Order: sequence, then C-alpha cells, then structure tokens
Amino acid sequence: MSAALPHPPLQENQVTGYLLFSLGTAVIGSLQFGYNTGVINAPEQKLRSFFNDTWVERYGVPITPGVCTIVWSISVAIFSVGGMVGSFSVGVMANRFGRRRSMFLVNCLAVIGGLLMGFSTICSSYEMVIAGRLVIGLFCGLFTGLTPMYVGEVSPTPLRGAFGTLHQLGVVVGILIAQIFGLEALLGSAKLWPLLLALTVAPAVLQCILLPFCPESPRFLLINLKQEEQARKVLVRLRGSEDVSKDMQEMKEESAKMAMEKKVTIPELFRSPLYRQPLLIAVMLQLSQQLSGINAVFYYSTGIFESAGVKQPIYATIGAGIVNTVFTVVSLFLVEKAGRRTLHLVGLGGMAISAVLMTVALLLKDIPVMSYMAIVAVMLFVAMFEMGPGPIPWFIVAELFSQGPRPAAMAVAGCCNWTANFLVGMSFPKLVEWCGPWVFLIFATSLILFFIFTYLKVPETRGKTFDEIARSFGGDPLPTSSSMFAPPTDVDYELFGGRAELCR
Ligand code: GLC
Repeated sequence: MSAALPHPPLQENQVTGYLLFSLGTAVIGSLQFGYNTGVINAPEQKLRSFFNDTWVERYGVPITPGVCTIVWSISVAIFSVGGMVGSFSVGVMANRFGRRRSMFLVNCLAVIGGLLMGFSTICSSYEMVIAGRLVIGLFCGLFTGLTPMYVGEVSPTPLRGAFGTLHQLGVVVGILIAQIFGLEALLGSAKLWPLLLALTVAPAVLQCILLPFCPESPRFLLINLKQEEQARKVLVRLRGSEDVSKDMQEMKEESAKMAMEKKVTIPELFRSPLYRQPLLIAVMLQLSQQLSGINAVFYYSTGIFESAGVKQPIYATIGAGIVNTVFTVVSLFLVEKAGRRTLHLVGLGGMAISAVLMTVALLLKDIPVMSYMAIVAVMLFVAMFEMGPGPIPWFIVAELFSQGPRPAAMAVAGCCNWTANFLVGMSFPKLVEWCGPWVFLIFATSLILFFIFTYLKVPETRGKTFDEIARSFGGDPLPTSSSMFAPPTDVDYELFGGRAELCR
C-alpha cells in the first residue's frame, strides 16, 4: 500500500459563515429524520387510548388488545415503508430539480404529514395518524439521500469527511429533541401529543425560509447543468476567496471521469460477478445495523423500560438519547484509528452481550435492582451501536464501490436498510407478545451471526485505495476517481499521480 498522503493545507478562509449557514440549513433534514424516528416512542399509551376511543365512538365496543397492537405497529412501521420509497427516488429527484429545489419541494411532504397527524384527534381518525406517518416516512427517506449529497457537494475537499458526519449527528440530536419534547410535562400529554407529532412542520417551514439564501450545489451547476460561470460564483461565495481554480479543476476532472466510467444500473449490479461480493457485504452491513434491534429501542424503549419495572421510563429513554449522541461523537474520533472492521465487530459483540443482559433484567424484573440493570443494558446497547453498526454501514458502501456502480449500490443499500427497519418496527410488538422477556435473545442471535459474517468476510477498508479494495474481492482493479460521494467520517479522495488515494 502506498503511504497515506497528508491533506493539503486548508486555506484560511475556506470555512466561511456562508458555508456553515448552508450546511446548517441542509442538516435540518437530518434532524427531521431523527425527530420522526424518536417521536413515536413516548406517547405510545396516549395513542393506544386514542385508537380505543375512536373505535368505541365508531363501533360502540372497545378495541381488542390484538387489533390495538396491530394499529399501533402499523403507525410505527409505515414510516419505514415511506422511507423505502423515498430513499429509492432520491437520484431521480436530485438530478431533475437540483439539490436545493428538491429539499425545498420535499418539505411539502413534512407539512402534509404533520397536519394529517396534528388534526387526527379533531377528526377522530387514527387512519390520519397512519397516513401522516407514511408521508413523513417518504419525506425522511428523501432527506437521508438529499442532505448527505448536498453537504458533500458544497464542502471543501479537505473537510468533506468531517462535515459529512453532520448528517448522523443531526439524526441523533433529532432523536434526542423528540425524546425531550415527548415528556408528559411538555408535549407528551394526552392532550398535546398531536402537536408533538405535528411539530415536524416547524423545521420544514424554517428550512423553506432559509433555503432561498443558500446556493445550489456548485457540482450540480457545473456537472449536471454545465453552468460554469454560475458554479464559479457560488464557489467564490462559499469559500470566501476569488481563487477557486482548484475546486473548479477538481469538479471538471470529476465530470470527465463520470463521463468515462460507465454508469451501472441496479440489474447490472446484481448480474455482474465483479460486484457480487461487495454488494453482499454492503447489504449484510445494512442488515446488521437494523436487525441489531436498535430501532426496537428507539421506537419502543418507554414500553421496554416499563416492563422492566423502571419507575420513570421516559427519563431512561432520554438517557439513551444522550448516550447515543455522545457515542456518535466518540466513534467519529475512533473510526480512523481503530478501523471500520474492528469497530463494527466490537459494536456487534457489545450489543449481543447487552441484549443478553437485557433478557436477564426482564426475566428477573421482580428483583428491584434489575430495573437498573435494564437501564444499564439499554445504554450499553445504544453506546455499542454508535461505535460501529450505527455510522459505518452508511459510509462503507461508498468505499466498496467506485463511481460507476456507486449510485445504484447506494440505492440498493438504502432500500435494504429501510426495509429491515420496517420489519423490526412492524414485528417487535408482536414478538414481545409471543416471546415476552425472551425477545432480546432474537436480536442477540442475529448479532452473533452478523459478528461471524463480519469476522469472516468484511475486509478493512481504512487507508486502502480503490485498487486494493477491488483486488481484495478478487476482481480487476476498479476504475478510480475523485468522488463527491466521499464517505462522511473519514476519507477524502485526492488525485495524486493519476490514482485515487484514500487519504487521512
Ligand atoms: C442510524 C439508523 C437509524 C437509527 C439511528 C439511531 O442512523 O439508520 O435507523 O434510528 O441510527 O441513532
């Protein structure tokens, strides 16, 4: 392996207020994804009684516990169905309307979804909660692609990795905000929960007010629209310097390479033996993220804590949100030192142990100290998740594929992630009914299987060139390129001597 080359020194004025403003505006989308992931957790009992009230009003009899659980599970999980469709449509939308206008338009969905949920009690319609969650899922699926794309495209190359992490940080902070607002004393009460769900409209409106002051992505202007002068003007403002020739040069090289490298469609991605192994690894890592059971915790932790005998479950849930945020930051600093493979293995192993601890705590819940053990087990579960299985699957896909197959691979990986998210969200309440306190052993088993897979099959990609990664899969060296899809936390691709190196 050739030695990793240092970053070129950052020009003093490359980080301008205007750049930070544009990034901050885009990251409102990540925050929205996190908020809507976490928001459904706290008001579970209130929503269940609303379903019952509506049922009584319509049919004169109370809803059966089984039907109530089905309606509740659908309200939680339909979010991911929207996410599946949204994540798949990102490419088409971003290329057709541009990045900035897409973000602007997509916010309509947040307004529609928020209003549907907000007016559900007034209209006595639980169907409106379900429809609202579907629309919000679509919105979030689109933003899980749009935000990282925009952030990657406006950031200066030496800082693209660092700024890329803002997306996951936005997600975890969004979850935390939802947990805090979900407090009974704030918006989690029987009266105010519709407002809690509708609150997603506020950041959408804020983002729509701010977006017109942000620039369109210079890469989109130059590479897609061929508007060189416009792109230059935007860069001058973003960088705070008249000399943007390096950025322009890099984008032109990227444009030329994109034209040279054949775009790979999704069916071709599945057919070609060259991509079989990296695709298997990308998909398995996405599945390991979701089938770890992380969203069983983020969607249902209040209920989990309650069954473990925790007196104030909502505060334990907020604690989990804080641990989640802290360990996302910890992982950012560790991922380049320890490597992806090691951190993923540590994370999966640690989560499996936590899942076993959780099972013990639930089984022995009559012993008072066990409620503390449940809290510790959930915190450890979440901390271990953010060490590896949380952030790594999102960015490793970009490392495993070169420019041509990368967009197709990202669509497939994103869709697998949302599908598995859906399966967990949908089945968890039923699994709890069937398995009772043993439910976390299902996740422990899946975590152990993914641990074995990672140990046997996943190569370390840290510090390796695309050539080396391709050779480790036994294929021909892949074409290399400087890339706008640089993985968020860690690598920036620089062209040195005609080769793309992963530099740290
Ligand atoms: C990741 C997952 C998401 C999960 C979140 C928790 O972003 O994709 O499903 O809710 O982490 O921090």
